[in-house]
Amino acid sequence: LFPWAQIRLPTAIKPLRYELTLHPNLTSMTFKGSVTISIQALQVTWNVILHSTDHNISKVTFMSAVLSQEKPVEVLEYPSHEQIAIVAPEALLEGHNYTLKIEYSANISSSYYGFYGISYTDESHEKKYFAATQFEPLAARSAFPCFDEPAFKAAFVIRITRDEQHTALSNMPKKSSVLVEDGLVQDEFYESVKMSTYLVAFIVGEMKNLSQDVNGTLVSIYAVPEKIEQVQHALETTVKLLEFYQKYFEIQYPIKKLDLVAIPDLEAGAMENWGLITFREETLLYDNNTSSVADRKLVTKIIAHELAHQWFGNLVTMQWWNDLWLNEGFATFMEYFSLGKIFKELSSYEDFLDARFKTMKKDSLNSSHPISSSSVQSSAQIEEMFDSLSYFKGASLLLMLKTFLGEDVFQHVVILYLHNHSFASIQSDDLWDSFNEVTNPALDVKKMMKTWTLQKGVPLVTVQRTKTGVLVQQESFFPNMNPEMQPSGASYLWHIPLSYIIERKNDSQSQSVMLLDKKSDAINLTEEVEWVKFNVDMSGYYIVNYGAENWDALIKQLKTNPYVLSDRDRASLINNIFELAGIGKLSLHMAFDLLDYLGNENYTAPITEALFQTDLIYNLLEKLGHTDLTSRLVSRVFKLLQNQIQRQTWTDEGTPSMRELRSVLLEFACAHSLANCSTAAMKLFDSWMASNGTLSLPTDVMTTVFKVGAKTEKGWLFLLNVYNTLGSEAEKNKILEALASSDDVRKLHWLMKSSLEGAIIRTQKLPFIIRTAGRRFPGHLLAWDFVKENWNKLVQKFHLGSYTIQSIVAGSTHLFSTKAHLSEVRAFFENESEATFRLRCVQEALEVIQLNMQWMEKNLYTLTLWL
Ligand code: BES
Ligand code: ZN
Repeated sequence: LFPWAQIRLPTAIKPLRYELTLHPNLTSMTFKGSVTISIQALQVTWNVILHSTDHNISKVTFMSAVLSQEKPVEVLEYPSHEQIAIVAPEALLEGHNYTLKIEYSANISSSYYGFYGISYTDESHEKKYFAATQFEPLAARSAFPCFDEPAFKAAFVIRITRDEQHTALSNMPKKSSVLVEDGLVQDEFYESVKMSTYLVAFIVGEMKNLSQDVNGTLVSIYAVPEKIEQVQHALETTVKLLEFYQKYFEIQYPIKKLDLVAIPDLEAGAMENWGLITFREETLLYDNNTSSVADRKLVTKIIAHELAHQWFGNLVTMQWWNDLWLNEGFATFMEYFSLGKIFKELSSYEDFLDARFKTMKKDSLNSSHPISSSSVQSSAQIEEMFDSLSYFKGASLLLMLKTFLGEDVFQHVVILYLHNHSFASIQSDDLWDSFNEVTNPALDVKKMMKTWTLQKGVPLVTVQRTKTGVLVQQESFFPNMNPEMQPSGASYLWHIPLSYIIERKNDSQSQSVMLLDKKSDAINLTEEVEWVKFNVDMSGYYIVNYGAENWDALIKQLKTNPYVLSDRDRASLINNIFELAGIGKLSLHMAFDLLDYLGNENYTAPITEALFQTDLIYNLLEKLGHTDLTSRLVSRVFKLLQNQIQRQTWTDEGTPSMRELRSVLLEFACAHSLANCSTAAMKLFDSWMASNGTLSLPTDVMTTVFKVGAKTEKGWLFLLNVYNTLGSEAEKNKILEALASSDDVRKLHWLMKSSLEGAIIRTQKLPFIIRTAGRRFPGHLLAWDFVKENWNKLVQKFHLGSYTIQSIVAGSTHLFSTKAHLSEVRAFFENESEATFRLRCVQEALEVIQLNMQWMEKNLYTLTLWL
């Protein structure tokens, strides 16, 4: 009988140190392992319970000071909890240390999880093998028996036996290499810092690197040999960011080396393993000829994110997965913060703003969840914590707090928190305690922030102007009108740091802040104003509605001189007015009236948001077959933006922000065949094709050019052929997007099928293909059919609840808006299994379809009239 019934491990035993020796065989996809674990008993016990899954355990021995000799012991297995129990030959006494040694063998995984193998063909068409690890959240246990919970930190010594021509890497620098037999070498790595199991990593394969010393830390970028030319940008970026973080946190990075490795096949975008960060090739490599400004931003952001984890997550770790936001929210916040400081020219605040819009929309659903404190136990529940709320609501709350407290106070707290908890584990309260150490008694940050982390949802602040002031009132922004879905019982209350800017009658402005910690309050402005704009720069996590008079004044301001308001404020007005119109709090008419100012708009953030909102409407109408309305909608929007579109050139000139605006505008124009856009694109495509793909196209419009080219049979096939010969992932992704934007169902089906097989198109790209196809008609129908038909295979590859599965479910259903589709999607998941149906992403998909239906009921008529 297995002596332990819970999913969480008992706390009687604590691991101190692991010695892990592995010998992988990359061709047979198996490995032999041996792990020696030093443990300490914290309470008297007879059993050692730890994690292990899919291991053939051949021998377990036990040693204590008393026995002083290894003694074979019995091992029990409990596969459904991925646990094993080792029955000790003597009672383990409080405070005493013991040693376990486990010998085993296992398969190298053929998914993306655990210790997994990849094969690829190199330039000379030779088949190559590569192995890497992805342990977060729960897969260290499949590579070696261990106490696989983040709070069990320990030291690791790792040894790996490899082929002579391969390189082996792990978290720590290499200590020694010895030839063990002909052609086989064993590498040993230095004992690690104290760390969680999910951060352990090792990689074996053929690689080259480029390195640079940063004050005693050797920074290296690794890639497969033929891509070594593309690592320069990553190296420069990493060096700058490492210096920035060490200075900002006032804590040195604690390992003598830091490797960033481009892995040929990876499920995540990147993974922050301590000292050995893994990336997809597309998120680390930069190619001067084919990477666009968006690609450069992506690489820079992801490096900034994973480097931030070396402190937030690796040095200071959440005790349990329910507080994942402390890892991911902080890393995401620091990503944008550091880019704003040292790569200001990239204007990454635009992406952060856009992410906040999307996050609030998701958080306003009934299927949302608090970012902390929800009960998290099963592996699917743990996987589900990796959603955009942990990342972006977490980051948004930190931005709100930083804006409210000021940059110096914020940095002071961050330094204090990291110093106090280095090499230890924390809960949300530990963070708030650090804040309160600095802000007490003026402000109780813990009390304030608990209203944000323990409640789901987004506040809606309604502002009514009075003679010389305003009344503000808060409620929950809740689009779902279904009576069953209404928030029940106690109503929501947040402590909202309200910021606002006023425009006086004499055209001067001023800004203020106040904390709204009750349902409603009055603010005295002491004078009559032209208008007020709340939530300055949208650095707060709330939506704002105004009375008609103030909306009119704001709209008038936009139409006369929009630049009195910041680009973030303009974008947030567009976002808020459309979200409010979407749920019937305002008329859609008013939202479109506001948009009429766009002719005067030259900035990226507001134009992107306007196009996002109108595109969403377009997409829904298109799927319902309202072709007349869609073309009228497009010509309305085109009229507003035609000057900006006509000003664009087919080049890579300008600031990063202008270049991204160009991508968005020309893509819009070409997608709807406006302003001769397609003709220009087709000309570029034809000369590119005539040059046999050797001509350099402008990178920011390359996707658009390929999409236009892919509309012909010949173009599509040419692109597919080129796809297989290219060494730049940046270029391949642009081609793949074009291939997947086709409206030929047979082509789309072939793409999805091939990507699932993984030979021509890697399986890591499948979610991207599904999402791309799912945006268009009839691709969305096909994407959904494909997901249904291959559901079991998809779950096997990407696991139930994972970020990838979430994106597949959302990407294949979010544009449905009919009763028939709603019941079909529901029936499909209900028939799968109870656990599947209960997945948050499934509940969310159903709710999004319902909201789309609700949107149509509310707005279709107004839209018809207005268009
Ligand atoms: N820790 C995550 C990787 C991860 C994601 C592990 C999901 C397990 C499950 C890593 O730090 C991360 O957040 N990666 C992101 C990229 C990031 C820049 C948003 C990813 O993989 O998308
Ligand atoms: Zn992360």
